[in-house]
Amino acid sequence: MRTSSRHRVAARMMAAIGVVSLMAACSGNGAGSGNGGATGGGYPDKNITFVVPFSAGGPTDTVTRMIAEPMAAKLGAKIVVQNVEGAGGTVGAGEVARAQPDGYTVLMHHIGMSTAPALYKDLGYKPLEDFGTVGLVTEVPMTVVARKDFAPATLQDLVAHVKANAGKVTLANAGIGAASHLCGLLFQSAAGVKLQEVPYEGTGPALTDLVGGQVDFMCDQTTNTSGQISAGEVKAYAVTTPERVKSLPDVPTTAEAGLPKLQVSVWHGLYVPAGTPQEVVQKLSEALKAALADRAVVDQMAKLGTTPVPAEDATPQAHRDKLQEQLGTWAKVIADAGVKAS
Ligand code: MLT
Repeated sequence: MRTSSRHRVAARMMAAIGVVSLMAACSGNGAGSGNGGATGGGYPDKNITFVVPFSAGGPTDTVTRMIAEPMAAKLGAKIVVQNVEGAGGTVGAGEVARAQPDGYTVLMHHIGMSTAPALYKDLGYKPLEDFGTVGLVTEVPMTVVARKDFAPATLQDLVAHVKANAGKVTLANAGIGAASHLCGLLFQSAAGVKLQEVPYEGTGPALTDLVGGQVDFMCDQTTNTSGQISAGEVKAYAVTTPERVKSLPDVPTTAEAGLPKLQVSVWHGLYVPAGTPQEVVQKLSEALKAALADRAVVDQMAKLGTTPVPAEDATPQAHRDKLQEQLGTWAKVIADAGVKAS
């Protein structure tokens, strides 16, 4: 992209920074402007921004903040997490695609990176061409959850209820192309129903409205629904994985609950703009591996129903292979479902 445009993006990011900052246990890493990043030699010598393309408090934000601190410690630099939400993650992803390829702007994205090209007509970026992959992070199961006073007691009751109340039941999602949107599509296709969908800008606000009873149900990641399920703030019908989730032992799988076709889990990965020096990508990948082996991260993920990927998947190549495979898979699912975001 053009340099002026890159500068505009960088300026906008700097202006919006400050949502949360995670300081590594080190000094002398202020916002210096050394040129080490251009070749990777002295990287990192200033703050690194991790862009989350969804709202604060959602699953992507949760996973990012979990790994940011140990990654910062390993890199010896400060990592600032910035939420750039909108359009199912495509606004934040687009900003990173257009950022300077110097390793100081990094994107955390999930399965939505592989679904957006099939959903959006004018995406403005190409996942395989405009990004470098750093490594996979985790794969998160999803849950079908409802407001706690919603009448259906089981997943099969839910299907019967939505069939009997066509047009009245509301299904929340975190935006077109969000994981919750995809899971909602899979639910509708598995159950043979068509629902009234209510898109939000992220799971944070969607879940708030679900707990508050403004929408009926949604499908979202255990990283953000586990707490509410355990606290009884939402009703859980099923987890969308072949096995039950250890931290939610009483919640049946979709297969056990009578909807075996509803299977999906949400993979996350770290990206940099294409053209980022190889040494920089390597340093980020090593820091990612260290974070995923960190005891506190492993324990925190386990409580939220997930696990870090094995070390060999926290690599640029494994991540690229996964992205390539998923782009093909979702292009077909989305074409079959006949869904378009714009
Ligand atoms: C989020 O962070 O809000 C979610 O990952 C959104 C989603 O994809 O459902």
